[in-house]
Amino acid sequence: MADRDDIRDGSNFGLGKPVENQSFYLKGCDNLDWGVKDRLSRIFRPDTGKTVMLAFDHGFIMGPTSGLERIDLSIVPIAEYADCLMAARGIIRTCIPPNTQKPICLRADAGTSILTDLNNNVVLDIEDAIRLNASAAAVMVAVGDSAMEAKTIANLYKMVDAGTRYGIPIMGVTAVGKEMTRDSRYFGLASRMCAENGASIVKTYYCEGFEKVTASCPVPIVIAGGKKLPELEALELASNAINDGAAGVDMGRNVFQSDAPAAMIQAVAAVVHEGLKPQEALDLFETLKNA
Ligand code: R5P
Repeated sequence: MADRDDIRDGSNFGLGKPVENQSFYLKGCDNLDWGVKDRLSRIFRPDTGKTVMLAFDHGFIMGPTSGLERIDLSIVPIAEYADCLMAARGIIRTCIPPNTQKPICLRADAGTSILTDLNNNVVLDIEDAIRLNASAAAVMVAVGDSAMEAKTIANLYKMVDAGTRYGIPIMGVTAVGKEMTRDSRYFGLASRMCAENGASIVKTYYCEGFEKVTASCPVPIVIAGGKKLPELEALELASNAINDGAAGVDMGRNVFQSDAPAAMIQAVAAVVHEGLKPQEALDLFETLKNA
């Protein structure tokens, strides 16, 4: 029974002040549920609307690839500079301290390795994403792969249904097979298909004409970094993507394979959140690297 002493009638009703309509800051997300928006706001900074996700899920198909041999030594020390950590559940549970206080984008499909046909994946149980307190779950879609297209789209569909049940946004990850052309027509198609099938975030690759990919995708797009580039080129890639409408990056190798990963992720963040030009960000990288 609540204490009934000194119950005071409310008097501050703000009469005459209309309640302001709230509008969510991420494109295409206005009509999502509160829990989904709460999770998205942990990933995308509300002050900039952008994100620097640190991707280190590569081992789920590649094993101990360069830079990820020891997650405790390479990733944990730089996690503080990321807005979100993207990894598979086994690495999160074994290597990421639970008090890191960074939102997790859980790699939520698995089933193949670089030794076999890629993308023949199944999705994880949404309950494990809930147990891990994931802020999002990522599922790959192999558009244009005649063997795996339908299966991976079904994976995305299933995960969106499950995520919607519990307020967990799903990120559609556009795969690129060897025979697929890396152009805006392909990435525009694949990104749009992810969104049409319910993804709240899309991860794809930067390409010529990228502004058409972002314009025709109704939800935020983040770009993967791809193979390791010289630092200036990786910063140019991030800058071009942001200028062409990306809502951030989900970058892996260009951070953890850099000579100075901590400096690199901070330089990328300066491009994404502060709009530093690539050369300015490279100067920042050099300064931090040599500090
Ligand atoms: C994509 O499916 C991979 O799992 C990585 O998360 C993604 O490619 C981003 O990493 P990177 O910047 O190294 O390409």
